[in-house]
Amino acid sequence: GLISDKMKAKGKLYWGSALDPNTIAITQIANIAATGDFGCFTPENSGKWDATEPARGQFNFTGFDALVSFATSHGKLVRGHTLVWHSQLPAWVSAIGDAATLTSVIQNHVSTVMGRHKGQILAWDVVNEVFNDDGTFRNSVFFNLLGENFIDIAFKAARQADPNAKLFINDFNLDGPGKKIDAMVALIGRLKSRGVPIDGVGTQSHLILGQVGGVAGSIQRLATTGLQVAITELDVRIPKPVTAATLQQQQTDFNTVTKACLAVPQCVGITSWGVSDKTSWVDSTFPTFDSPLLFDDNFQKKPAYTGVDSALN
Ligand code: G3I
Repeated sequence: GLISDKMKAKGKLYWGSALDPNTIAITQIANIAATGDFGCFTPENSGKWDATEPARGQFNFTGFDALVSFATSHGKLVRGHTLVWHSQLPAWVSAIGDAATLTSVIQNHVSTVMGRHKGQILAWDVVNEVFNDDGTFRNSVFFNLLGENFIDIAFKAARQADPNAKLFINDFNLDGPGKKIDAMVALIGRLKSRGVPIDGVGTQSHLILGQVGGVAGSIQRLATTGLQVAITELDVRIPKPVTAATLQQQQTDFNTVTKACLAVPQCVGITSWGVSDKTSWVDSTFPTFDSPLLFDDNFQKKPAYTGVDSALN
């Protein structure tokens, strides 16, 4: 089967993947990405601040344009990622020292980046990873100069820039009960009570083999906010060495996560964080883990793919 097509048949919008010019350049990945297995792409790096506005007011859309062009020419959706994030942030932004300057810099960044492909982007991760794991706000130039209000500023600018895009807050480690998901749900409540334009919450879901039992409850909990929910960066990393048994467990885990989205009407779609294990971020970031995606290093379907497919039958 073709899993994005099957997601749509179930009333969801897509199964998606992270993608960018560096992975589109791999013929096998481009070929898989063009099929009905994937219906939405997220720029893995090309939409981030260091790529799009490396110097103040100097925008570069080379990579982002190429990603959007690949997607639209194949009839796929795009999830924009990401406008305001503490990481992959150019030094010139971190060096800003006053609230007024930072406010106008955020507004200009959001309006210029979102304006680029206005009307063509399904959803944007407007702010990313604002929380520490204990539920306190992460230190960043944004929080340090503007407090929580940086989130309001970003979302208001985003709504103005592209009124058709669904506006998401996105974070990781929301995969079970705890202070981080508590803080996210509470923040969304405050944003809504202040009239901040927000449409969705993304749970990245960078998961570890055999540790996916909290996902269904988390998606239900996030849905209680009334917002759309999306699984935005799914992978399930396997401790080395990878064996037939652990690949089988990964099949079960992907099946469980897929069913968790299917069970909640507000869950709009699932994006896995790459097509093939060959190019996953996990290799360099977690050297003792491997093989987190649906297609292996040789671009062949893994048991994990069957886990997704069978959830959709
Ligand atoms: O483009 C340069 C290349 O010119 C250079 O030769 C090479 C040498 O290291 O680095 C390349 O840049 C790397 C870039 O990925 C493109 O491959 C960066 O070093 C590397 O840091 C960057 O990693 C990305 C990471 O975000 C950075 O934070 C990963 O690809 C990307 O998958 C990852 O994605 C994040 C999400 O945006 C947010 N959630 C967590 C997720 C995983 O970390």
